[in-house]
Amino acid sequence: MCGVVGYTGKRQAVDWLLDGLQTLEYRGYDSAGVQVVSPSGNLHGVKCAGRVAILRERAHTANLHGTCGIGHTRWATHGTPTDRNAHPHLDCTGRIAIVHNGIIENYQQLKRELMADGHEFRSDTDSEVVAHLVEEAWAGPARGDLAAAVRNACDRLEGSWALAVACADVPGELVVTRLGSPLVVASTDDGAYVASDVMPLSSVTSRVFQLDDRDIATLHADGSIDIVDRDGRLVSNPVAMEIDWDASAARLGGYSDFMAKEISEQPEAIERLLAGRLGKHGIELDELKLGKEELAALRHVVIIACGTSYHAGLTAKVAIERWAKIPVSVEYASEFIYDDDYLVPDHTLCVVITQSGETADTLAAARRMRGMGCDVFAITNVLGSTAAREADGTLYVQAGPEVAVASTKAYTAQMVASFLLALRLGFANGRLTRDEVEKHLHDLEQIPDLMREVLSRRWQDKQAARRFRHKGSSLFLGRNVSSATAFEGALKLKEISYLHAEAYPAGEMKHGPIALLEPGFPVVAVVPAGHVHDKTMSNIQECLARGASVIAVATDGDERVAKLCQEVLGVPNCPDDIIVPAVSVLHLQMLARYVARDRGYDVDKPRNLAKSVTVE
Ligand code: F6R
Repeated sequence: MCGVVGYTGKRQAVDWLLDGLQTLEYRGYDSAGVQVVSPSGNLHGVKCAGRVAILRERAHTANLHGTCGIGHTRWATHGTPTDRNAHPHLDCTGRIAIVHNGIIENYQQLKRELMADGHEFRSDTDSEVVAHLVEEAWAGPARGDLAAAVRNACDRLEGSWALAVACADVPGELVVTRLGSPLVVASTDDGAYVASDVMPLSSVTSRVFQLDDRDIATLHADGSIDIVDRDGRLVSNPVAMEIDWDASAARLGGYSDFMAKEISEQPEAIERLLAGRLGKHGIELDELKLGKEELAALRHVVIIACGTSYHAGLTAKVAIERWAKIPVSVEYASEFIYDDDYLVPDHTLCVVITQSGETADTLAAARRMRGMGCDVFAITNVLGSTAAREADGTLYVQAGPEVAVASTKAYTAQMVASFLLALRLGFANGRLTRDEVEKHLHDLEQIPDLMREVLSRRWQDKQAARRFRHKGSSLFLGRNVSSATAFEGALKLKEISYLHAEAYPAGEMKHGPIALLEPGFPVVAVVPAGHVHDKTMSNIQECLARGASVIAVATDGDERVAKLCQEVLGVPNCPDDIIVPAVSVLHLQMLARYVARDRGYDVDKPRNLAKSVTVE
């Protein structure tokens, strides 16, 4: 979602601000803007609907000079994506500029009060109230102290925010703060930086500091940063975080798009995650932070997630129930938070799966589970994310930066991470012997090579993509653990190719969706070898009888599928059916990408979507 950047120091601010915003493009946005303090002590900037590339051109024409400034990419919530609603927003005097991520929930009330006091608003956003509140404080009780003015303004806000504020009267100073929306700062010889995540900062430093909720940081041009906590105390040892990946990990490195790069990085991501896991507890999972007795006492697991991460949760359920024999419920976070009647049995572990660690619904659900007395275990990809900070234990999936909005490598890594959790739980409660754990781990270790084999067959996906030409809809089918793969395949196709895709457990097709079928209608059937293979074949026959084109994801050597189906996306034999989803889904990721490219779409930045969904 929205992105914040800010800089004060020796270099021209606009250069890094624009580069930083470009790095944040992956979060999803619809407009962008920058504002710098000019050498003559005035604010000047540009903002526009559309891409950072357009902003760059406008900034070039406007010739923005100044060594202190802020920038923003906006994902519209309040007000349409237009030039006037883009950030930064200015106060009435034009000497204070703000950028904001999050939502100001009481903005209407504040706006009414501010307008009654004579403030003039120039946008339809909730964010603009902040500029006017800082203006009031600056003109009144906090004159000369920007940090105090920002604190004063924040005291009147309800909601969530990551804010960066520049004021032409204190050139060379930026004040930033957060509540519920991430913000990191970095101090370098060149100056001080702020951003809503570590991505833009990785080009200037490997060490960043996280702000806690309601911390107020003042960034100075000499690179120093003063942080004061919510009680007004100086924070002398802020939490430092090492960026442990090379900045090049977030660059294309020869690939045509990030989605292609990230799909191909999956084998290495899984290898990293599995390295060194076997130990005296069967599976070493210190990240869980629960002792053997607490683990053995668990009677129920609730998995909470959204979107693709929810699909990882569906596979996790199968693994935990099979290996640890513990019943699992998988819940959409957005539904769970408002389900007042939800019953949580004693000895329940809550597992939140979130690649970004910042999804507002998932965070709210995790807080609710903690409030109900459950331990919360987070499976996430982003170091120091809010989910990781708030959880009792965190397993980082170590997939590396995922820039394409559509999740691919984080998804398979989440699945494999949940397999490790299932093995750990099964060993702790005595359902699995050490030998069994070893055997399952050995099977998991086959995943990277199996993935490599599927990647080498991308030509099959390219060929199958032609079946979607000139089509308006499609159906994805699978049974048991493969139904999660079907759901994920349909989601991938929808989000990047804008083609309608309906996913159903294959046996449910006859209860409604079969009405969609007509000659040439594309049906993707996930039908690997296993105990439901023949049942799924019957569903494929039902599709073929109605003239549908069936694209089957099937195990190598499946002659029946090869004979009947129009396209086969072959999956090598897997040692255990539980790992098939982590391997077969690569075909569906590549298929979605080829269909989207065929239609001429930008696969990395699908319309309307955001990488981390920080609003409920
Ligand atoms: C789809 C996708 C989304 C996310 C969802 C949850 O490709 O990425 O469906 O899975 O927004 O995000 P996280 O995992 O960050 O909580």
